[in-house]
Amino acid sequence: MRRGLWPNLPAVLFVTLAFWGVLPTATVATEEPPSEPNTASATPIVGGKPADIDQYPWVVYLADSRGEQFCGGALIAPDKVLTAAHCVVDRRAPRVSVVAGRADKNSRQGRVLGVTDSWVHPDYSTPYRGADVAVLTLRETTSRSVVKLAAPSDDGLYGDNTEATVLGWGARSEEGQNSDVLRRAMVPVVGDAECAKIYDRQFVPNAMVCAGHPDGGVDACQGDSGGPLVVGNKIIGIVSWGVGCARPGKPGVYTEVAAYAERIRARF
Ligand code: ARG
Repeated sequence: MRRGLWPNLPAVLFVTLAFWGVLPTATVATEEPPSEPNTASATPIVGGKPADIDQYPWVVYLADSRGEQFCGGALIAPDKVLTAAHCVVDRRAPRVSVVAGRADKNSRQGRVLGVTDSWVHPDYSTPYRGADVAVLTLRETTSRSVVKLAAPSDDGLYGDNTEATVLGWGARSEEGQNSDVLRRAMVPVVGDAECAKIYDRQFVPNAMVCAGHPDGGVDACQGDSGGPLVVGNKIIGIVSWGVGCARPGKPGVYTEVAAYAERIRARF
């Protein structure tokens, strides 16, 4: 288990487990022991509420060969899905499928799409070094609408306290189960200077963006990885890592989409 991450993270003291327990690549380890008890409220995507998929038609989830959801993603072109590198780096493309238009995992809503190719950013090694970004190519194109990528000129979207929305089917609390239904939560962007103070060298300002309330209570969690952090109609982040979920003073850390927009677009 977790063979993808253990060798890379010798300093690991605490590992946050993906709900499904069989998804080594969807599990991100943290390098600190839990310092506070888990006070996260018992609502999926910690502290969120159910989301209407028609409002976010481009949000998708990644399913394994048994059809089980293990990460999130977003349609950025009719046949391209943006997700986190750590979600797919150890998986072969044909063994991952993309489920589009299905808010409730127990329904048959929407479509299951095959994946023919999986591109992982060449600089990716662990989520703590940045470049936690991957692009999947779908076997068929979809007619669903796509979400725009934040560009380097979209600096303003990354400003301190910008209200962003994170979406996913991830855990309802640190030790919790993944959600059956799509959830969303509002989290304010935490500026680079502040986030660097919190996470020290694990935070790479040019590659990551943080978001969360100072008091915690709202956050992405295990199983949300790869999912989108959006402001308006633009995706600014990809759920990447955190220390526990929704802990006070421990914002979620996201891949900074604008920093990789050019490389991502080169995949179209
Ligand atoms: N690594 C997790 C995953 O694979 C996502 C962690 C996000 N954690 C957070 N506290 N924001 O699903």
